[in-house]
Amino acid sequence: MKTFLVTGGAGFIGANFILRARRNKWANIINLDKLTYAGNLQTLAELQFDRDYKFFQADIGNLEFVKFLLTEYQPDAVVNFAAESHVDRSIVKPDDFIQTNVVGTFQLLEATKSYWQNLPPQQQDHFRFLHVSTDEVYGTLSFTAPAFTEQTPYTPNSPYAASKASSDHLVRAYHHTYKLPTLTTNCSNNYGSYQFPEKLIPLTILNALEGKQLPVYGSGQNVRDWLYVEDHCDAINLVLAEGQVGETYNIGGESEKNNLEVVEKICAILDRLAPQPDFKHSSLITFVKDRPGHDLRYAIDCNKIKRELGWQPQESFDSGLMKTINWYMSNTAWVDRVKSGAYQDWITQNYASRITS
Ligand code: NAD
Ligand code: DAU
Repeated sequence: MKTFLVTGGAGFIGANFILRARRNKWANIINLDKLTYAGNLQTLAELQFDRDYKFFQADIGNLEFVKFLLTEYQPDAVVNFAAESHVDRSIVKPDDFIQTNVVGTFQLLEATKSYWQNLPPQQQDHFRFLHVSTDEVYGTLSFTAPAFTEQTPYTPNSPYAASKASSDHLVRAYHHTYKLPTLTTNCSNNYGSYQFPEKLIPLTILNALEGKQLPVYGSGQNVRDWLYVEDHCDAINLVLAEGQVGETYNIGGESEKNNLEVVEKICAILDRLAPQPDFKHSSLITFVKDRPGHDLRYAIDCNKIKRELGWQPQESFDSGLMKTINWYMSNTAWVDRVKSGAYQDWITQNYASRITS
């Protein structure tokens, strides 16, 4: 059995990846996570007696500690999910994005390089550093432009996107210069179980269930390409196993929707699953002040991973959304814990100045 050092494994995608890796016996897991506001060990509760899963609370920027973990556990791969990930927070306060996404990734690469250079040649050949990135590095598209390919030039527009673009460039440079066996994946918007409700889909589901306003930025016409998180995790595992070293792979859900469509779909489903006698959920939709620099459209061309590795998304947006809504309705203990404390401060900070009516 292989061993993966997963960073950011207490966050949304990292935790889904770890749960899937342990359930499907992909690998033993060492999880290194700083436990920022977005990290949640409750998501991983089912692994508490799993002897092949270990958790360490630490920063990816802690060079000496990461070196220690690598030497101690001799992983076959590092899978880097750790990041500050919310665009709106990056606009309010970019500092942590630069620190973790740029400086942290650099330190993680340094620690990994030092470990990898000391491996015997055969282990060096098999080792992989997989960096999880985003389609936002490619900038924004018009409604009619072709989707982003791996050749699309980087034109990041938010502090978050710029910090992720920087980290992608560092990963690329460590392969080119030191021959570190890297892989980079650039994916579209993920959704599914365990997503922190600052992001559009879980925020809308939970607000609607509580009869609260559903904030839609600007006109709601901005388009995202929705990828079910488990499809994303399967793609990452496949890229780890079969991806060409030094390459990047785009991963998308082939489900482009504008934000208003997404919110309206959630409302229609909740009208059936949780009907309200006095109102339709869509009456809660509230158009609010737009995100500064709001990218109009993201769309991923994922033909490379389909063609070369045989991956394709298994979930349609309708089936994935239904699973996601059912999950949030059935996991109220997880939701209540997440929404207590600092979460409320963010909601006040982000929406108080936006909601005008
Ligand atoms: P998330 O915000 O839910 O989780 C991030 C995790 O990283 C948290 O557990 C947090 O505690 C941890 N972390 C933050 N700073 C750290 C540090 N300095 N050291 C160690 N751990 C740290 O994010 P997510 O949605 O799970 O995204 C995971 C990765 O995927 C990120 O790199 C993100 O940029 C990328 N991505 C996400 C999406 C999406 O739609 N969610 C889409 C494309 C790419
Ligand atoms: O494209 C990949 C990216 O997707 C990832 O790299 C990011 O980590 C992830 O957070 C996500 O970024 P977005 O900004 O696209 O996701 P978010 O859920 O914040 O917003 C989705 C769309 O919905 C976006 O156009 C803004 C809009 N929105 C968002 C919120 C939170 C609203 O209209 N209202 C809201 O309250």
